[in-house]
Amino acid sequence: MDYRNILVRTEARVGLVTLNRPRQLNALNDALMDELGAALLGFDADPAIGAIVITGGDKAFAAGADIEAMADWDCMQVQERQFITRNWETLRQVRKPVLAAVAGYAMGGGCELALGCDIVIAAESAQFALPEIKLAMLPGAGGTQRLPRAIGKAKAMDMCLSARALTAQEADRYGLVSRVVPDEQLLDAALALATRIAGFSLPALMAIKECVNRADQGALDEGILFERRALYARFASADAHEGMHAFLGKRAPNFLHR
Ligand code: CAA
Repeated sequence: MDYRNILVRTEARVGLVTLNRPRQLNALNDALMDELGAALLGFDADPAIGAIVITGGDKAFAAGADIEAMADWDCMQVQERQFITRNWETLRQVRKPVLAAVAGYAMGGGCELALGCDIVIAAESAQFALPEIKLAMLPGAGGTQRLPRAIGKAKAMDMCLSARALTAQEADRYGLVSRVVPDEQLLDAALALATRIAGFSLPALMAIKECVNRADQGALDEGILFERRALYARFASADAHEGMHAFLGKRAPNFLHR
């Protein structure tokens, strides 16, 4: 596949994917998510790879789903496109350990992408938020399900309902991330950890990952299905379209509460 929105390379037994739409703060559109999915499946199938790292740029890991792309979708279009289901969930098929190395903004779908990884390493500059409420949208890529599992209902409700952003240190304290490192050490730290993991027996790693995920997989699957329906329904809301267009127009939204 010819990659235009990501960079892909290998380091020893580690596959590295760098999200690469810096001008849009790595906003996650279909093209990027298709490429990310293809790269992940490629590494998963490659016997020379034992672990995968996903990273972004210095300013943003990813600022969320691409608001410009989806601002005019209606409820039917979003179902026909199988938004999220079609390509965001490829990550869930990966059997090898996946690490997120996060600097800068991890907002909305960017935060959800990190939450979908097995280990999150944060740079000190990292900020985590699910600010979809500002758009009259909702975190529809697993966030409403994975965030409370990661940090508990009290903190998750605060983040989802008030758009509160967590610093890297807060995210570390609350259990959203595994480790925090200085920004200049982020990639080296992530690659070193991935290399250590990739040195262990791959079938054992995959078995452990499967077991840990199985701790709540059934309930998670149900919750994600429920969340997806609620996300699609947001596209029937005038406020959601107003929220997205207000963001793109760099103005405050005028919500009519419908
Ligand atoms: N989608 C599309 N474009 C985006 C974007 C996004 N999610 N986030 C940023 N951009 C674009 C901006 O429109 C801007 O483009 P222009 O230069 O053409 O104007 C460029 O990236 C730089 O962004 P800002 O000028 O806004 O940068 P900033 O430093 O002032 O602010 C920010 C950074 C706080 C992250 C701000 O960009 C922001 O709030 N972004 C949106 C975050 C958000 O709401 N994410 C949730 C998206 S919905 C979602 O993800 C649903 C889901 O669950 C799947």
